[in-house]
Amino acid sequence: MDQERRQRLRQVTEKIIGLPILPTVVAQLIALIDDPKSSARPVAQLISTDQALTAKILKVANSAFYGFPREIATVQLAIVVLGFEQVKNLSLSVAVLRRFSSGNEHRLFDRQRFWDHAIACGVAGRLLARKVHPRFEGEAFVAGVLHDIGKLILIEYFFDEFSEALELAETEELTIVEAEEQVLGVTHSDIGGWLAEKWNLPPSLVSAIAYHHRPEEMEEPDELVHFIHLANALVRQHQIGTSGDSHPPTLVPDVAARFKPNPEMTNEKLLDHLSEGLEAELEKAQIFKDLGDS
Ligand SMILES: [Fe+2]
Ligand SMILES: [Fe+2]
Repeated sequence: MDQERRQRLRQVTEKIIGLPILPTVVAQLIALIDDPKSSARPVAQLISTDQALTAKILKVANSAFYGFPREIATVQLAIVVLGFEQVKNLSLSVAVLRRFSSGNEHRLFDRQRFWDHAIACGVAGRLLARKVHPRFEGEAFVAGVLHDIGKLILIEYFFDEFSEALELAETEELTIVEAEEQVLGVTHSDIGGWLAEKWNLPPSLVSAIAYHHRPEEMEEPDELVHFIHLANALVRQHQIGTSGDSHPPTLVPDVAARFKPNPEMTNEKLLDHLSEGLEAELEKAQIFKDLGDS
């Protein structure tokens, strides 16, 4: 029965998310940049066809978030200076922020606070990657921004069920994941994972979204999912934004153990230790807060 319901929900979700949720430019961009033969010029030309996207990319490229000392006046220069990967990740984040900046609201789901949570997770993910594996910085940022995107699909397309889950989480003091499981039989992470797959995002990004609450269930967990699992806990500990329930952060023991400098350290101490530098990074990411409008 559960399996049947899950299957049905997946079909419904795939039908919905088969619609052009992302601007065509961003969808084409993902395909184009994944092509090893692509060069800066066609990518820049493609982005330039969307003026609002171009303006926002340049705004972020010139912000303290990247801290580049010279002015980046064109998308082509942004690609040269920041690299293809960064520009792709940035465009994807900007496009999703714009697409989901408004929509259904619920007393227990404030969109502004949702984005505060998501952007802060991106920032925390980027910070963790920088400490352990700087190569993943850009991907960790976009994974953090997108990790709870399933909730935006739920509130937009399954409003009644999601409202019921939000209320159940409140009255029964459940996590939103537990409540979603009870009401829908699937969670926002499943839905987010399906969406990411449909968008042809790289497999590591798909798994980071799909497994951010249960990294231990991945057959071969990779670093990115650990960063996002930890980032989510860090942001909850610091009470930045909200995303559907008010539970304290939880950490999967195996993931926590990998990051503890000594085994005796408590999870709370670990989160304190990892949040070093977070405030300053959050400050630099202010620029993302006003990308939604227009
Ligand atoms: Fe989540
Ligand atoms: Fe989250």
